[in-house]
Formats: sequence, structure tokens, C-alpha cells
Amino acid sequence: MADPVKMLKLVKNDDAFILDKLLKHDKKSSCNFGSRHVSSSYKKQTDEIDKIPFNILIAEDNKINAELMKAIIESSAPQKFSINEASVKFNIIIAEDGKKALDIVFSPINIDLIILDLMMPLINGFDVLEKIRSCGSFGNPVGNIPVLIVSALNESSIISKGIELGANDYIAKPIVKNIFKSKVNSLINLKKLHDTLENSENIIMSLALAIEAKDKYTSGHSKRVSILAYNFGKYLGLHKEDCLLLKRAGCIHDIGKIGIPNDILNKTEKLSDNELNLIRNHSITSSDICKPLISLKKESYIVRYHHERFDGNGYPGELNCQNIPYLSRVLSIVDSYDAMTSDRPYRQALTMEAALFIFENEKNSGQWDPEIVNEFIKFINL
Ligand SMILES: [Fe+2]
Repeated sequence: MADPVKMLKLVKNDDAFILDKLLKHDKKSSCNFGSRHVSSSYKKQTDEIDKIPFNILIAEDNKINAELMKAIIESSAPQKFSINEASVKFNIIIAEDGKKALDIVFSPINIDLIILDLMMPLINGFDVLEKIRSCGSFGNPVGNIPVLIVSALNESSIISKGIELGANDYIAKPIVKNIFKSKVNSLINLKKLHDTLENSENIIMSLALAIEAKDKYTSGHSKRVSILAYNFGKYLGLHKEDCLLLKRAGCIHDIGKIGIPNDILNKTEKLSDNELNLIRNHSITSSDICKPLISLKKESYIVRYHHERFDGNGYPGELNCQNIPYLSRVLSIVDSYDAMTSDRPYRQALTMEAALFIFENEKNSGQWDPEIVNEFIKFINL
């Protein structure tokens, strides 16, 4: 095992830190956008996508009401339920009690919309809704399924309770066909919009993991940073949304290295000033890649400053102390810890104890926020 004191010199050296990574570009793979077959295959593909059904769960113990809602949806011309597409195929599932509804929601079927009665046997609609929405705080897609409450209970306190618990809309019984259709239509489009945003995020996350997976030294780094940052955020008592921000930022923080040539990333000799600047620019590139996605705006901000130092000698902004975003300071420590405890081309991995030894001895060196380092040491020692 490497000597932690000897390793300290390497760990503190930005060049060494940055040289963690060996990215290999596959020059053989390139896309041919000039094919004349594109239009026909594209049409075929979009036709196939249109056939993917939109799964609607009707949680309703009254069989007549359930069948009525099902009939309204099925009898409507498909385009009436979709602003952007010519056809949407509906797969409607009926659950006659709250327990069955939850079983279906948490089954492998991807439910796209829930129409929810409040008074149901076994588990009532409020409890069903609460259970579903509690998943959203932890990034489970189930937590974001649109919910339309359909209920005979129409007191304002009941309606507001449903909305506060996370229902997207409410409709009173007896059902008025046109109002029901317009509300279902609205929530279908909301779900589609959400799916589009989520797909864009997933592409960036997958790209980030794919880039580093090509090299044995960097493989898994972002995923480990993502998970550790999320758990450290929870330990610090941060808001769930901030923990999720750390999770996503951890995943994409080094995506900007995609723009750095291999020969620079793999260089073992001292880097020139130009090369060093290019590498140091990766935090800005990571940030800029995410910036066009409004849903990753905060992550883009955190990632931009993950190489700032507490003493103001970091990059890109040479920000110091509290001027560095708090979550960037947290991410920086987790990033450093994972770099220390992973094998690198130029050194072996440090043990957890050796890495903590460095943090303990260097917490006032100016690299990291000493208060957060103290908490991190306690967190790792748990
Ligand atoms: Fe980085």
C-alpha cells in the first residue's frame, strides 16, 4: 500500500490529480448522416414509438364509475388526448382498492397517469397519494406520475389536502365528460413533457458514465462520487433536493474532459501552461454541456466550481471561502476522497485511513473548507 505522506505530495499536486484519467476515443465509430434510407427508417421508427401504449391506472372501487371513465378515454378520438402526436394508444388498468393500486404502481408496468378515487377499501386515496409522492424526493420516477383525483368528496378542505399531498388536479363526481377529458389531456401532456426532460438528463448522465467507463482508472469514479456525495449530503442534514443535486452533479462533474485530447490526458511528464489551462477548463466545459438543459441548471452551477480552493487558488473563478457555492465545496471533498482511494496510473490507491490522515493533516492547508472536512471525516468513520 502506498505511503500516505509520500502520496500527499502527489495528491496536492493539481497536475497529478488531473492526470487520473485516460480517455480513449474510438475513431472508428462515426455516424453517417448522409444515408438516403434515413427518412423511411425514421418514419418506421417513429411509427413504432407511437405504438408504445400510454398506461393509465384508474384506482376506483365503484365498478360503474371505473368503466365509465375507461369508456370516455377509449371512445375519444386519440388525437383529442394529444397536442403533439396523431395517435396515442391507451392501456387502461383498473384497481378496485388502494392496495391493488399501489401494487400496480410499484410493479414493472410504467404507469403514466393515475386517476385516483379517495374513498377506497384497504388503503384510501390520500394514503396512496402520499406513498407515491414520498418516492419523488428520492428520485424514483414513480414519485412524478401525474395524479388526477376524482372524488365525490368536494369540500374545499378535502380538495386542498389532495393538492397539498401532490395531486396535480381534482375533478368532482359525478363526472362531466368534457371536463374529465380536458383534465386527462392536460396531464398526459404534462407527463410527456416530463419524460422528454428526463430523457435529456439521462442522456447526459449516461454519456458521463460512458466516457469514463472506457478507462480502468477512471471507471466508476463519477458514480462513486455521485453516491458518496448524496449520502454525505444526507449526513450533513441537507434538504433532500440538495442531496439529489449532489447526486446528479457528482455524476456529471467531469463530463467536460470529453473535450481534452488523449495525449494530454495521458501525459505523464509535466504539463505545459497551455495544456494545464486546457485541463483546468474541464469544469467550465462540464458546466456548459449541462447548461442548455434548464432541469440541470443548478447542477451546472455546482459543477463549474468543483475545483475551486478554499484559499482562492483554485479554478476557474479563483473564488475563496464562502464565495464558493456550498455544494461545490462538498463535491470537491468527495471528489478528492475518491481520487485518493482509487488506483491511478502513477500510484496505488490509498486506504480509507490514509486518505483521512491526509484530510486531517491538510484540512487547514487551503484546499478544502475545513468545517466540511471535519464533518466528512466523521461521516467516513461512521
Ligand atoms: Fe474535475
